[in-house]
Amino acid sequence: MIDIHCHILPDMDDGPRNWEKSLTMARMAAADGIRVIVASPHLFRDKRVDLKALNDKGVILQKIRQFQEKLEAEQIPLTILPGCDCPLSLEALDLLKADRVMTINDGRRYLLLEMPDSSIPPAAPDICFQLQSQGLTPIITHPERHLVFLHNPERLLRFLDLGCLVQMTAGSLTGTFGRKVAKVSQTMVKKGYIQLIATDAHSTGGRPPVLSKAVAQLTKLIGKDPAQAMVTAIPEKIINGTPVF
Ligand SMILES: [Fe+2]
Repeated sequence: MIDIHCHILPDMDDGPRNWEKSLTMARMAAADGIRVIVASPHLFRDKRVDLKALNDKGVILQKIRQFQEKLEAEQIPLTILPGCDCPLSLEALDLLKADRVMTINDGRRYLLLEMPDSSIPPAAPDICFQLQSQGLTPIITHPERHLVFLHNPERLLRFLDLGCLVQMTAGSLTGTFGRKVAKVSQTMVKKGYIQLIATDAHSTGGRPPVLSKAVAQLTKLIGKDPAQAMVTAIPEKIINGTPVF
């Protein structure tokens, strides 16, 4: 399986603090059958916009090289690729234009895009359209945990029509965020609003780097092959920078 959204690099954001914790997460992911992880630190270390606390592309690449060496030394069968958890904000868009935001696998084809916590900015569809016209497909992250989409899942249709992809957090389907989120997650999946799931793990705790339990839920909802595609074929196309559909 492939996990395209995971805070696994040490000392970058609110994910693991050190290599030991990163490696513990890596062992857990590998034991779950995950073979590729896109390391996606928040664009800004403390999440809020702070240009002095920008997670630099060079640092991400350097940490991934170090990580890969440690994984090989410990014989953990896992490949780590670069990425970034990018907030939808004017500052982030300026940084993207200046090529200072790490897209998935540094391919400038796909970008994890997180809406502000409690709103969908009026300019969001236009921004997504502009990104698409530059060849960059936004992947809207975890709408089932977003205040507006949670109560109005059909608001996703506008973004799907614009060619965006939508990624759900695996734990949302298995009750990590409560019954309401789990129920809405099922609705979104059944309506076809979700193209893939990812762990969005930050540690081995509350939201661990585990996909298999959510895949079992997905299988019940949409059947084995479409469920598997959400953690294999679809994320594979994303990391290869090829069209999903
Ligand atoms: Fe995230």
